[in-house]
Amino acid sequence: MPQLSIWYFRTAILFLIAGICLGLYMSITHKFEATGAHAHINLLGWVTMAIFGIYYALNPVQAASRIARIQYMLYTLGILVMAPSLFLMLTGNPALEPVVAISSLVTFAGVLLFAVILFSRKA
Ligand code: HEM
Repeated sequence: MPQLSIWYFRTAILFLIAGICLGLYMSITHKFEATGAHAHINLLGWVTMAIFGIYYALNPVQAASRIARIQYMLYTLGILVMAPSLFLMLTGNPALEPVVAISSLVTFAGVLLFAVILFSRKA
């Protein structure tokens, strides 16, 4: 399997562990204000990253490219900043909204770069 896929799966499982911990915390404490952070950690961090990892496993030539590594770094950086700042914003720190906004755009840039990679693949 390409190294990039391994990195995607390793990063994804860490996000799933974090997302489940947050879900369990909300269930135990009956405090649900961070539901949005939980959902985004699981869906952007676990599900989407695992799909990226599968794609690169099926396309090892593209996985070895510089643009694919940049895509991983951009996307991962975006969620790494977005997840904790979204959690803090939803649990009573509205001042973090600009951080959430900027990191969301970084995450989206990672998604757009993945679209470029997909469409640049030669059949
Ligand atoms: C043991 C694992 C998990 C626990 C304990 C857990 C717990 C929770 C809790 C307590 C809520 C809030 C429900 C409410 O506001 O009424 C929630 C919402 C949500 N969870 Fe999880 N969750 C888990 C795993 C996952 C996974 C793996 C995903 C996605 C891949 C996920 C996606 C979502 C989404 C999208 C919502 C929002 C639903 C809505 O607002 O309608 N969860 N979860």
